[in-house]
Amino acid sequence: TKDWNGIDQVVLRNPQGASARVSLHGGQVTSWRNEHGEELLFTSSKAIFKPPKAMRGGIPICFPQFGNCGSLEQHGFARNKIWAIDDSSPPLLPNDSDGKSFIDLLLKPSEEDLRCWPNSFEFRLRVSLATDGDLTLTSRIRNVNGKPFSFSFAYHTYLSVSDICEVRIEGLETVDYLDNLCRRERFTEQGDAITFETELDRVYVSSPNVIAVLDHEKKRTYVIRKEGLPDAVVWNPWEKKSKAMVDIGDEEYKQMICVDGAAIEKPVSLKPGEEWTGRLQLSVVPSSFCSEH
Ligand code: BG6
Repeated sequence: TKDWNGIDQVVLRNPQGASARVSLHGGQVTSWRNEHGEELLFTSSKAIFKPPKAMRGGIPICFPQFGNCGSLEQHGFARNKIWAIDDSSPPLLPNDSDGKSFIDLLLKPSEEDLRCWPNSFEFRLRVSLATDGDLTLTSRIRNVNGKPFSFSFAYHTYLSVSDICEVRIEGLETVDYLDNLCRRERFTEQGDAITFETELDRVYVSSPNVIAVLDHEKKRTYVIRKEGLPDAVVWNPWEKKSKAMVDIGDEEYKQMICVDGAAIEKPVSLKPGEEWTGRLQLSVVPSSFCSEH
């Protein structure tokens, strides 16, 4: 199918009725629904679906730079490019299980990209929807350059929540983080779970590979599993920053939380011919009453 700008998008469906939508603009997942048709990813009502900017929501891919600590545009150029459909990937990638509906996309640098980032790469992205409704994104980035290069990376995942004040994140307790609101200073998470009462913009470094996002009101827990992605970003813009952004409603920060699998603190280095894999798996489980305290 096509999106509003006539850019191709691909819809994946599983036999139970779950679905996911992926746009060739940015290779961005723009929707993920469970078997009841409920949307699980946040998209702003003010989102702008127009290249060259990534739309506010879903899962934009930050590559080859995260944030603005580098010479490139914020979060790198991959999310602003038109990707191609890739027919060259094998049906089964390592660690893949059968019975999935998937799409393979490919990004190669344009002349313009090479001028700002002179490193030739092939970036293959597989988005798959499993029979149980899990969504998996597998990125494989290959150095096809004559020299080594390094990059940072994030799956900037906007999860849909009922009320940010009722959300908590488990799995990042006692993990060190770099605080983007405070000159990237390093702190250690103390509390027993992360809860929200103000703007938060952190990179949890070398975090565990399983993180849970509990939405008490919806009695729903997102389980995020990451591989090859040592760090985790947690971001909510809160009221003031939302008001300053054109593509998010003033109150919409309440319905979203970004939790990203990422590689930021230590950039990934690839020698010529080497390939890196970073995988993110998202599942939703009903929150059990016993875990509420
Ligand atoms: C976060 C950054 O990860 O992404 C924030 O730490 C930034 O500083 C946010 O505002 C959204 O970025 P963008 O470029 O999509 O508006």
